Amino acid sequence: MARRRWIIAAVTMGIALAGLSLGLLGDEPQNKADGYVGAKTCATCHEDVVTSFKTSGHGLAMAARSKDLLDKACEACHGPGAAHANDPSKTNIQAVPAQQACLSCHPKAEALMALNLPAHARNNIQCLDCHAPAHTPAAAQPLLKAKPRELCGKCHATEAAQFLMPFSHRQGEKPFECTACHTVHGENRTGRLSMEKGGVCLQCHTDKAGPYIFPHPPRNVEGCLACHSPHGSPNPKMLNRYRVADLCLECHTDVPDYPAFHDLSKPRFRNCTNCHFAVHGSNHDSLLRDE
Ligand code: HEC
Ligand code: HEC
Ligand code: HEC
Ligand code: HEC
Ligand code: HEC
Ligand code: HEC
Ligand code: HEC
Ligand code: HEC
Ligand code: HEC
Ligand code: HEC
Repeated sequence: MARRRWIIAAVTMGIALAGLSLGLLGDEPQNKADGYVGAKTCATCHEDVVTSFKTSGHGLAMAARSKDLLDKACEACHGPGAAHANDPSKTNIQAVPAQQACLSCHPKAEALMALNLPAHARNNIQCLDCHAPAHTPAAAQPLLKAKPRELCGKCHATEAAQFLMPFSHRQGEKPFECTACHTVHGENRTGRLSMEKGGVCLQCHTDKAGPYIFPHPPRNVEGCLACHSPHGSPNPKMLNRYRVADLCLECHTDVPDYPAFHDLSKPRFRNCTNCHFAVHGSNHDSLLRDE
């Protein structure tokens, strides 16, 4: 008997460890006692749905975690189905899962979304606004309803359109994905971008990282956006003003006070970066005339 009990303990422990190996996943969905019947029962009437779900990306991912997880998946999303299986009707099953259902297996997703893009959380943007996790084919990975740019563009038409301006971030003809800069709910928290010290821009523009002996202050204080529009601009180099001098004079209002020197009536002085070309900072000249 003692031996048998030991085996039971070992098996229980094995199950517990299997649970742990689910890593990011939360507790397993509840058991049959609470009105759950399992995918096999659903398949007696919804055979096509069950078969296609099993071979979908999400289904395969669940099966890779554990067969049991897949067996419980229908009801993890649609809620317990015993009553519905006994007497099928649209009113005794959750047709469209609530966000809570996703969180039973993805417990961190909501908190990460709130950290990355609090505006999404505040405006009640939900998993199913962006993801196609079940019976309709995903347009892009990870299980997205549309390719990322179209997905974001549905609600953010202004930003999406800015990428069609004459100067914007493009690879050849193809605009950058929004996710190149904004993370929706990854763990590195770069959704709502901080421009502190150059922020996300420096991930790619490493040559602008400095530090410089003579930094140009707006770069560190307001970041790159003091001068550039991140989503696109009608102006070369995505600058906020068409004429570079207008951009500079927005802050350097005192420049015209140097008539002897900066005579703005003379064309020679109107292109500020002809002389002050180290606009991002310099290691040699406090007047930014040499890098
Ligand atoms: C005995 C057959 C039967 C079983 C078993 C069954 N269903 Fe259904 N299900 C139906 C029928 C019939 C309908 C359509 C009801 C209607 O149109 O009034 C339906 C509808 C649904 C709907 C759609 C509801 C809507 O508003 O459109 C979902 C979701 C659903 N079932 C999920 C499940 C899940 C999950 C299981 C397993 C837990 C399951 N069903 C088991 C017969 C069944
Ligand atoms: C990850 C969540 C999720 C899982 C798991 C899931 N569904 Fe669904 N199901 C949905 C959503 C969301 C809808 C609403 C329509 C849509 O987006 O496709 C839906 C719609 C349905 C419908 C009605 C529409 C249709 O396609 O006929 C049925 C029936 C259904 N699910 C049955 C099942 C069964 C059976 C399983 C188990 C194999 C299952 N679902 C697993 C999320 C899920
Ligand atoms: C029964 C558990 C379960 C439920 C419920 C569930 N998921 Fe998942 N989901 C998984 C597993 C397992 C994976 C595989 C990734 C992993 O192991 O973390 C996954 C992966 C994903 C992925 C990433 C796919 C990829 O290619 O990386 C997305 C997106 C996703 N789920 C969205 C959802 C949404 C939205 C819902 C609610 C409608 C939901 N899930 C409900 C278990 C579940
Ligand atoms: C505004 C759109 C949007 C919403 C809302 C959203 N997601 Fe995502 N999700 C994405 C995008 C885009 C990715 C790709 C990675 C990224 O950029 O964060 C992703 C990635 C994922 C992944 C893959 C693993 C990872 O973190 O990279 C899972 C799982 C996931 N989402 C689940 C969910 C769940 C669960 C919800 C609801 C709580 C949700 N998502 C809400 C857009 C969204
Ligand atoms: C279903 C609509 C919807 C979708 C899809 C959507 N958003 Fe949003 N987003 C909103 C709303 C609503 C707000 C808050 C109001 C506003 O600022 O426009 C918001 C705000 C934001 C903000 C401002 C962040 C903050 O916290 O202040 C960023 C950045 C953003 N979204 C990026 C994205 C990206 C990237 C995608 C695509 C992966 C996306 N959104 C998809 C609706 C959406
Ligand atoms: C090259 C990097 C980059 C790309 C690519 C990018 N963004 Fe942004 N986005 C930014 C920066 C930087 C900000 C400003 C953050 C700030 O003001 O602190 C921003 C701000 C936003 C905001 C908030 C605007 C506001 O007025 O508060 C939204 C919404 C947004 N982006 C959506 C998108 C969408 C949608 C896409 C894809 C079409 C996209 N972004 C692509 C860098 C980028
Ligand atoms: C994911 C990488 C990436 C991120 C993040 C990024 N960029 Fe870029 N950027 C590029 C690439 C690639 C080019 C094209 C370089 C080329 O054409 O030689 C570019 C070009 C530029 C250009 C020059 C365009 C021209 O006409 O020469 C400016 C200005 C610029 N980026 C500013 C920014 C700013 C400001 C940010 C932050 C809001 C930023 N970038 C974020 C990759 C990135
Ligand atoms: C004070 C205004 C200002 C600030 C702040 C600024 N830039 Fe610029 N940037 C310019 C001007 C002006 C040009 C065009 C220079 C020219 O045409 O000679 C330029 C050009 C560029 C270019 C294309 C040419 C090159 O030098 O590679 C990139 C890339 C760029 N900036 C990235 C950034 C990044 C990243 C930041 C933030 C770390 C930033 N800029 C901050 C004014 C600024
Ligand atoms: C967002 C405001 C802002 C913009 C735009 C701006 N600057 Fe500046 N710049 C400053 C500040 C602040 C300083 C620090 C010295 C000061 O207070 O005058 C500075 C310093 C300088 C200096 C060094 C002056 C000294 O006394 O050390 C030069 C040269 C300069 N900027 C040139 C330019 C040029 C050229 C442009 C246009 C490409 C430009 N700036 C755009 C804010 C700005
Ligand atoms: C022909 C070259 C040239 C052009 C063009 C030029 N500058 Fe200068 N700038 C200089 C020189 C040289 C100095 C140093 C003057 C001195 O020693 O007093 C200077 C000094 C400055 C200073 C620092 C003034 C101070 O307080 O010491 C600022 C700010 C400045 N320039 C901004 C600008 C702006 C803005 C433009 C465009 C409207 C511009 N410059 C165009 C050559 C130029």
